[in-house]
Amino acid sequence: MDLYDAVRSRRDVRSGFRLDPVPDDVVARVLDSAHHAPSVGYSQPWDFLVIRDVETRSRVRDIVLRERDRYAESLPAARREAFAALKVEAILDTPLNLVVTSDATRGGRHVLGRRTQPQMAAFSTACAVQNLWLAARAEDLGVGWVSFFDERELAEALQLPPHVEIVAYLCVGYVDAFAAEPELATAGWARRRPLSWAVHQEQWGTRALPGLEAVSVLDETIAVIGPLDATAVAAAHDRQAALTKPRGSLGVLEDVSVQLAGLAGTCPPPVPSPAAIAIFAADHGVHAQGVTPWPQEVTAQMVANFLAGGAVINAIAAQSGAEVVVVDVGVAADVPAAPGLLPRKVRRGTADLSIGPAMTRAEAIAAIEVGVEVARDLVAAGNRCLLTGDMGIANTTASAALIAVFTGATAADVTGRGTGIDDDMLAHKVDVIDRALALHRPDAADPVGVVASIGGLEHAALAGFILGAAALRTPVILDGVIAGAAALVAAALAPDAVAAMVAGHRSAEPGAARALAHLGLRPLVDLDLRLGEGSGAALSLGLVQSAVRVLREVATFDGAGVTDKDGP
Ligand SMILES: Cc1cc2nc3c(=O)[nH]c(=O)nc-3n(C[C@H](O)[C@H](O)[C@H](O)COP(=O)(O)O)c2cc1C
Repeated sequence: MDLYDAVRSRRDVRSGFRLDPVPDDVVARVLDSAHHAPSVGYSQPWDFLVIRDVETRSRVRDIVLRERDRYAESLPAARREAFAALKVEAILDTPLNLVVTSDATRGGRHVLGRRTQPQMAAFSTACAVQNLWLAARAEDLGVGWVSFFDERELAEALQLPPHVEIVAYLCVGYVDAFAAEPELATAGWARRRPLSWAVHQEQWGTRALPGLEAVSVLDETIAVIGPLDATAVAAAHDRQAALTKPRGSLGVLEDVSVQLAGLAGTCPPPVPSPAAIAIFAADHGVHAQGVTPWPQEVTAQMVANFLAGGAVINAIAAQSGAEVVVVDVGVAADVPAAPGLLPRKVRRGTADLSIGPAMTRAEAIAAIEVGVEVARDLVAAGNRCLLTGDMGIANTTASAALIAVFTGATAADVTGRGTGIDDDMLAHKVDVIDRALALHRPDAADPVGVVASIGGLEHAALAGFILGAAALRTPVILDGVIAGAAALVAAALAPDAVAAMVAGHRSAEPGAARALAHLGLRPLVDLDLRLGEGSGAALSLGLVQSAVRVLREVATFDGAGVTDKDGP
């Protein structure tokens, strides 16, 4: 087997092991390959603990099973269900376990290259693991890496000296076959990112494979957005007509199912699950004009609340089984790192759009590309439905300005009370927007220019998020007025992006209905919501999933032997 074959056909193996022993000379060859790995300053920080004893392995397995349960509990409902079907270890199903440790102190303080980067020891050890994995593949040995444990707890259970760190716990045994694809890909848990997403030429963000011309993420995204697949749409119409129910009796849900079939290019389409809500958060310079009674710092405070799980969207997302991620695309304050936070700040809030451009053109494009990349990453992580969320004190002002430009409505027609303002403040808000429109004279034919002059960073990122979803033919459920404004930007950049959009709800903000009408979208629910955060989108997720389940699961008149009143 040549090296490229070994690299491509190596798999993380968790099932299909044989229990026949692995001969010592084979184990020695594999370990010798590991030992030939590169290491920082030639420090060879690794050691290998070979464990065959069943009692020791049973103790390890208990630790792993406990941690597996904890992980399962932390998952959104749809993920938890999928995770239950996955095997994550083969500790007792293999004849042999190998622990690969790393010693970041080996060689003393002068190890070449490790002085400022102690993590280089663990990186070197990871190289040894990969050598081991490839050599094992060449020997037809399967290797499964297990990382469901608290590292210190396992190190103690294995009585390792405190100065060594566990880098890998590996289950090793012979297998008859290696799967062609990672099991997590086959199970739909995650997908391989195209190489072109990962290769930057000269400058971070300029993607191209070697030998190909570099294109911007935005241009590349727009280029692949297309309309619904007509064949799948026709098949979905036919199937709806054949289901055991009066034709058309599921109203708009039937349209949604047909749209999602056309988007997926197959009928029936996959159930749009799991789903992820991305809440794009940013601040607005126009806040200084007194367009909202809420202080600007509430944006950052609510971001912390989302991350702590205490906001409305967390409760609704928990009910609908969706994951919540928060994207700092332009919060004016520092946002501390936390699980679930994507730090992608383009700038610390926009400038005041009523006295100058909100941001530069380059910043608008950078924010749009943040949105595209968040969509890409969430889809690569296995999500089959994306939902928009937003947080940004004063963002209904920028939304109204955007909606006015793209729909041709007046500011007075599309400006609402946001989080709740009185008549005087509303009149002032309309005046601020009118002044901004008079100042910038935005041209709807130049969507990036419009966002740069009167938009928000979260609007730009949401537009990119919607485009990213459309490019990956993944449905994107729009929340309220901020999403509506962003969807107008997306549609102005790529008209076919509308094919991926589902309007989650009709916000109480007047601009929302205007935006949806312009896009030709019908909102699924109308509950006088005006919260944002993605709440309306999350509420309608179940409806979208039900629409697809009906198309997938309901029997046909023929299949169920039910008489069709309109049948032949
Ligand atoms: C650092 C690391 C830790 C991993 N931990 C686990 C684990 O705890 N359980 C598991 O089932 N797989 C684990 N894996 C395996 C990955 O899920 C697997 O490599 C990935 O899905 C790609 O599949 P492939 O290795 O077959 O290409 C781990 C892999 C690596 C590199």
